[in-house]
Parts: sequence; structure tokens; C-alpha cells
Amino acid sequence: MSGAAVQFLHGLAQALSTLALYPEGHTSRERALDLVFTRLNDLLTENEHPTYSFLGGDEVVYNDLPLREMQNWDWSRRLAEIGVQRLQFDRTVQREELEEFLDMVLARLALKAADSSEARQMRPSGIRYGLVGVDGSDTELEMDAASTATIRFTLEDEAEAIRWIHSEMLDGHSLPLLEAETVVRGLSVAMHGDRQIMVPLLRLREFDEYTTTHSMNVCVLAMALAEWLGMGAQDVRAFGVAGLLHDLGKVKIPKEVLLKPGKLTAEERLIMNSHPVEGAKLILAAQPELDTAAVVAYEHHIMINGGGYPKFTYPRNCHQSSRLVHVCDVYDALRTNRPYRDAWPAGKILAYIEERSGVEFDGEIAHAFTRMIRDWEPGVVEMNSETEPVVEAPAPAAAPSGG
Ligand SMILES: [Fe+2]
Ligand SMILES: [Fe+2]
Repeated sequence: MSGAAVQFLHGLAQALSTLALYPEGHTSRERALDLVFTRLNDLLTENEHPTYSFLGGDEVVYNDLPLREMQNWDWSRRLAEIGVQRLQFDRTVQREELEEFLDMVLARLALKAADSSEARQMRPSGIRYGLVGVDGSDTELEMDAASTATIRFTLEDEAEAIRWIHSEMLDGHSLPLLEAETVVRGLSVAMHGDRQIMVPLLRLREFDEYTTTHSMNVCVLAMALAEWLGMGAQDVRAFGVAGLLHDLGKVKIPKEVLLKPGKLTAEERLIMNSHPVEGAKLILAAQPELDTAAVVAYEHHIMINGGGYPKFTYPRNCHQSSRLVHVCDVYDALRTNRPYRDAWPAGKILAYIEERSGVEFDGEIAHAFTRMIRDWEPGVVEMNSETEPVVEAPAPAAAPSGG
């Protein structure tokens, strides 16, 4: 009875090897995808919710029973190592979803390879999230088991990659674009990990994690909004990269200023407000072709009425992508507890965005954003550590301050 379960895994391994070799659209790639998708459907005819667990030792568990045939199967360890400890499918799974999942696996394996490089070993290791993703036993993220996620995995590797990117920049190295794009791809897959689009917003646990979680959230929100506005996949990805990197310049801000719990002095404010210029410089120095991301880094604190910073010498309109990231940035900043301000509840933030529409925010973009969040409310999932429940924000205090 485990025949189809074994056959699917063989097809999976074959598809992974093939996809690693051939570009999108290549016939070999399409054939491997057809094969693994057929085997998945064979499996789904005998089991409505096939579930695999890859436990890291060379063991594969299929629906609670070890698959003897797959002992010492190489991929079990590799999948576990990149955060795919549990893999579950349901009947709604589409071929494209399977393809995206396989691409994500390959992207993560590439990250893992970079992981063993010397630079990667130097990354700070003081902060961990635990599993931020979903896993069958994580009840807090289990929404409706019967109708939700087809493919489940965690976001820990993406978070780790962002920390590493930031530490690379801190050390004066050049921006590792490939890894940034890999993170965006991983987040994009996470976003679509459900039939309904899911926004995997991370909830802040430790203050130092702010830059990491904020970058991921703005990346996801920017992609979601771009998609909501009907943009094509490539543009959506470009907005994701811009969102991910919008605050990159903060690596140039001294920790005492960046993490100061109280109000900033005028001088400190000046230093803090240099992060858009610094970020644009860092991005352009590393990747001149990332001009959109550089423009967004430069403009993301500029309001539609010209307020904010930095100031243009000659007034002009901000790029559409900057206006889009601006609203995502403010939304995520306000929903986070900061040392100087409690998190705002979602409703209050949306009201704020509406009120400032046409003044601070581009009217059309602000409108689309608030509609998107309201529309997706059930799909907006707060992801946090495995153990800590999400604490609802206490009553809001002082005026907002963007991120
Ligand atoms: Fe920000
Ligand atoms: Fe910022």
C-alpha cells in the first residue's frame, strides 16, 4: 500500500535533480514535472491527505509509519536541513504549486551551500526564532486543517539569510543579490502556500530582530499589494526585492541611535534620517541594475505632499514603487511594539492610512492597500515562535513613526 508513496518520492528526487539542471520552459524540466505531478495524483487517489515527515536521520515517515523502502534516502536529510520537516498535500494541489515548492527547495539548498562558506560562518548567532512556519503540530498556525495549506514549511532559513545579508553589509561586503532574491522567492512561495493567499507576517519577539522581521514583512506586503494591483510576476518579485532592501541603510546607523529606547535628539534624528540615502548608495554600489530597489530605499520616507525625508532639491513625484513600499512600511512599523510606542491594532492603522491618504500616501495605493488587508483578514497570519502565543497589542500610545 505504500507503493505510491515511495513512487512519489522517487519522482520528487528526480524532478529536483532535473529542475536544478534545466531552465524554466525546457522540455526535460516539463517532463520531470509532469511525472512527479502524475505520481502525486496517484498518491492522492489512495490517500486524501498524504503526509511525509523527514526527520533528519535517514528516515522517512509516511502517515505515522516509517517507510522502510526509503531508509537512507539522501533527500530525507537534505529536506529536513532546509526546514521541510513535514510535507503535506491535499487534493487541491496544482502543478504550479508543486513547481514553486520544488524551486523553493532548490533555492534553499543553494542558500545552504552558501551557508558553509567562510563568510556565512561569521554571522551572528545570538538570535533564533525557532520555527516561524507552520507544521502540523503547531496549533496556533493551524487554521482549518481540512481546507488549508497544501505545502508546509518554515521561514527560518529566510530569516537567517536576511540576518546574514545584514551582517555582510555591516562588514563592508557587497550586497549578496542572489541570496536576497532567493529570500524573496521563498517568501513568495510562503505567501502562496495556501489556496487563499496568506500573508505570513512575522511578529516581533526581540527588539534586535526588528530589522529582520520588518524587512520580511515589508517584502511580503509589497509583493501582495503589487499582486493585488494586478502586476505581473516579474514586477511583483522586483517589488519584493525593493521591500526587502528598503531599510538596508540602517546597517550604517550606529546601534545606540538605531536601538535607542527614548526620543531621538535633533542630532540623532539627522543620523537616523540618513538611512534612505545610505541604503540607496549601498544598493547601487553593489548592483547598479537594482535601480528600482535603490530608488525605493531613497524615497520610502517621502510623503506624497513632499513631507518626510530626504528633501528633494527640485520637487518631483516619487516612483510608484516607493509609494507602494511607503504604505507597507508604515503599516508594518505601526503594528509592531517599539520601545517608544506600543503596537497599534490593525483597525486603527487602516483608519490612519485612510485619513492620511492623499497627504502622506498615494490615494489609489492607500485605498488598494486597506482594501487588500480587510479582504484578506482571515488570511493574514501572524507567525511567531513555536511556543509563544501572539499577544494582542495593548492600547496605543503616542504618534506613529515609520520604519
Ligand atoms: Fe522600514
Ligand atoms: Fe526606513
